[in-house]
Formats: sequence, structure tokens, C-alpha cells
Amino acid sequence: MVTQMSAGADLAPLRRFWHPVAESSWVEDSPVAVTLLGEGLVLFRSGGAVRCFADLCVHRGTRLSLGWVTDDGCLQCPYHGWKYDADGTCVLIPSQPADAQRIPGRAKAVAYGCEERYGLVWVALEDPLKPVPEYPWLDDPEFHTWSKFCGIREAGAARFAENALDLAHLDFVHPGLLGSPGDTVIEPYDVEIDDGVVYMRYTKRSVGPETFADGVETVRHEIRVEMPYTFTLIFRGERGTTTIWGLHHPIDEHRCALWRYESRNHSLDTPDQEFIDFLDLLLPQDKDIIESQRPHMVPVDLTEELHVKVADAGAIAYRRMLKEELGVAYV
Ligand code: FES
Ligand SMILES: [Fe+2]
Repeated sequence: MVTQMSAGADLAPLRRFWHPVAESSWVEDSPVAVTLLGEGLVLFRSGGAVRCFADLCVHRGTRLSLGWVTDDGCLQCPYHGWKYDADGTCVLIPSQPADAQRIPGRAKAVAYGCEERYGLVWVALEDPLKPVPEYPWLDDPEFHTWSKFCGIREAGAARFAENALDLAHLDFVHPGLLGSPGDTVIEPYDVEIDDGVVYMRYTKRSVGPETFADGVETVRHEIRVEMPYTFTLIFRGERGTTTIWGLHHPIDEHRCALWRYESRNHSLDTPDQEFIDFLDLLLPQDKDIIESQRPHMVPVDLTEELHVKVADAGAIAYRRMLKEELGVAYV
């Protein structure tokens, strides 16, 4: 049945993954409020490291993100000044005499796992099933990388990840920029699922900007989408390799934020801005389409929505993987 609502959407299994929620540079002297999987969080820097708490003071439920970071690296609530140290333990209740502090044992902020990698802050709300995703091209001296925060979208993160596996949209959503003009037929390609990653591989003659080539060249494409919605595109052409990393911050079931990293070992004299300008042409085209999809989350049951065998093989594999690994109806 095709439906507009992701009724019964269950975000709980997604709590067991690392998710990017902010850039490291956004978290400086003041607390920063973010939402992850519908849960309000506060990020702050203590002793150089970023910490993440539930954005809620246990005293009266005030948002800790309205408070401030003290010189000794604590987060202080703006309402009655309770101070929480880097681990979330309340270390001061100012309404009590300094020499007779009686701090209840339950006076603790809820602290979550938090790591900084790739210039981003990653948070896991429960014990993560796997480490922060790898993007080896960033450290590869042969490759040059740029990255960009691409803003917030009114759609679930998995809709964007699945779009990376969707070849049939290229001619329609990105005409003249991606795809094969005049030939909308998708030839069979290899798809496999291995250890929580969907791999899609195919080789085709590609024109112009799709592969950042001047003319037509034969390009080996590999698309990987790993649990739950990080994608990597690898284009191996005659001149070199381009990789694109798509990261998604699942704000809630209706919204996500996007980062894109792009690396290349060719065209090193070409200014990054040319590649960024190209991305800036593509992303608004996808935005309008993906934000229009209902429900905002991907229904993983294959009886929902309709699929065609060849063109949708990547998406079918992705939905199968999500269903198997997460056991929920919508992701
Ligand atoms: S509500 Fe936070 S200190 Fe009272
Ligand atoms: Fe697209």
C-alpha cells in the first residue's frame, strides 16, 4: 500500500549508530543546541573536547543550551545555576551554602557518546554497533579533498541515501548534467550487500560534468551505502578518481542535514570552486524532488511503493538491508 504517512515510525534502532550533528568549528565557547532523532541535545567544549548532554536540566527541565560554559569547563544551567561537569555530574547548587553542598545523587545530566572526526561532531545516543564511518581519501596524500555543509532538508536522511543508488532519476532531475542524454534505459548492474553495506558497480561511457571530464570517457562507477545512510560514490575514469562522501544528520523523521566531501587525484590545478559550483547546481534539483516524497522516511517493506527490477535493484537491496538490520517499518 502506498501511504503518505510513516505511521509508527520507530527511530529507536538508529540510536545505535554514530551520526554527524555539527561541525567542530561550530562548538566554541558557547553551548550549541542540536536535535538528533527527535531528541534535543546540547554540545559544549570542556577541556578542549566536545561533550554532548540531553538538552535538559534535571532540576526543572530547562534547556541547558540556554546556559553557558564556565571557566572550569562546566555547563551551567541558566535558571538556578546548577553546574554540571564534563561527565554530567552536578558539582554545584548555588542556592546551598558553598561549604554545605548537598547534591542529590540523581543530579546528573544525561551524557551521550561524542567524538570529533573529519571536522565534524559525531554523537551516538546508545552503544554504537559500529565505529564512525571511514573516508580514507581524506588522509590519502594523492587526493585533494574539499567539504561543504549543504543545509537542512525537509526529508528523512534515508531518502537522500537511497537517491545515491537511483540511476533512473539522473536524466530527469539533472538533465544535461548527469545521466546519458537520449538514453534513459538503465542497463543491468552489479548489486551486492556485504556486512551492512550495499555495493553497486557498473561501467559506462560518461559525458562531461558527471565525471568532471572534458569529453566522453569510460568510467567505472562504484556506489556504496552503509548502514544506516552514509554513501560513497567512486568514479574511476581515464584521468583519475573522484570520490564523493554523503553524510546525513537525521534531525527527526521529517528533517535531515547534509554534508558532502569530495576528493580527487586529478584536475588539481582546477579551483575547488568549480566543483562546488557544480554541486550547487545539482543539490537544489534533488532537494525539490526528495522533499516532495511521502512519507518523508523510506518504507523498507517492499510491498510499499513499487519497484522495477533493474533500475531499482540498488534501492531494493538498500531497503532489504535496512529491514534486516534495523527491523523497523520506516527509516
Ligand atoms: S532548572 Fe536548571 S538549575 Fe534549576
Ligand atoms: Fe540526484
